[in-house]
Amino acid sequence: MESKEIINSLKTFLEGEKLAGIKEFFSPSISPSQQLKLLSQKVHQCAKCPLAKTKKHYVFGEGDNQAVLLFVGEAPGGEEDKQGKPFVGRAGQLLTRIIQSIGFKREDVYIANILKCRPPENRNPLPSEIENCLPYLKEQIKIIRPQIICTLGKFAAQTLLGVVTPISQLRGKFYDYEGIKLIPTFHPAYLLRNPQGKVPVWQDMKKIKDELRPNCLRPSGR
Ligand code: URA
Ligand code: URA
Repeated sequence: MESKEIINSLKTFLEGEKLAGIKEFFSPSISPSQQLKLLSQKVHQCAKCPLAKTKKHYVFGEGDNQAVLLFVGEAPGGEEDKQGKPFVGRAGQLLTRIIQSIGFKREDVYIANILKCRPPENRNPLPSEIENCLPYLKEQIKIIRPQIICTLGKFAAQTLLGVVTPISQLRGKFYDYEGIKLIPTFHPAYLLRNPQGKVPVWQDMKKIKDELRPNCLRPSGR
């Protein structure tokens, strides 16, 4: 069809729609940043589990709304709870350096957690808490659509992959998470206690860098 013909038939179609009383042809689409804002508002009203009462701040996550790389941790700790931001304590400072080691700025990536509220005394997340909170992260992933998800530590890897395999066996390999490449690595808090874990983490980061290099640019249409 000639482009003139296409335009004419679209015109005819839209006029028909108008006569039929249909005012909105294109579904109103909202940008990823607006979608994340709405989701964040939803999280900030969440009362699905008792953590909402014991926490100081919800920690939704932060970063580039269209980041190619998403880091997923476990849950906010004390400093994150105080500031309402992910990975801002000692482990967070190490994560920032890990991110910089592969040529990104912290604000180029997105950082989130499985739980949006701090468990008291930083205890492990309960299965019920993960069940309540995971839908928020899944929604974040759908909106951001990163090329790579890097999970930090045992909880994030086991939760997103739905396995109970030890992190030492999971790390350093790419898996599929709903069509997105997912690579588990050690948690930076673990590295603070076990510096020998740094070499494997650098190796995992190199794999991420190599994977992203050939297609650093977003496919068009994003
Ligand atoms: N540990 C995590 O898993 N997440 C944070 O945000 C901070 C520390
Ligand atoms: N155990 C964990 O929970 N996380 C790590 O990163 C390493 C050991």
